[in-house]
Formats: sequence, structure tokens, C-alpha cells
Amino acid sequence: MLRVAVCVGSACHLKGSADVIRILQDLIATYGLEDQVYLEGSFCQEQCTKGVVVRIGDELVTGVQRDGVFQLFQEKILRRCRP
Ligand code: FES
Repeated sequence: MLRVAVCVGSACHLKGSADVIRILQDLIATYGLEDQVYLEGSFCQEQCTKGVVVRIGDELVTGVQRDGVFQLFQEKILRRCRP
């Protein structure tokens, strides 16, 4: 199971982390990855100036924006689930 944790701390929240979660939820459902990806919110990852911060497995990705979520999903999530 791949863990994907989107920071929902206040700085990341202001930069749109709720939208990032919603878009990821939709993509996970669309691609039928519910039993391969565990999506959750996380507390502050101490990278507040670089939000939105998303941890994918052991990798910390910073600067995630709404319009970059699909690319992030393709490169970092879908590729790991369907190599
Ligand atoms: S609020 Fe997201 S890293 Fe601090």
C-alpha cells in the first residue's frame, strides 16, 4: 500500500491542500487504485514556505499546486502502482 499524505497544516491549507486532496481522491477513484493507495492528511511537515507539501511513500514533494496534481499523480503514484 502506497501512503500519500497531504499536509493540512495552516500554511498548506491556505495554499489549497483541501483541493489537492479532493483532486487526488478523484484520480485514485477514477483509476481504481483505492486498494493500492492510502490517502490521508498530515500535520505540518515543517516546510511551510514550500507548500503544498505531499509525502508519497518516503518522498517529500513540495510546491504542489492544484493544476500540477494530475502530473504528480501520473509520475509519482500511478507509475508506482502500474509500472
Ligand atoms: S503547513 Fe504544510 S509544511 Fe507546514
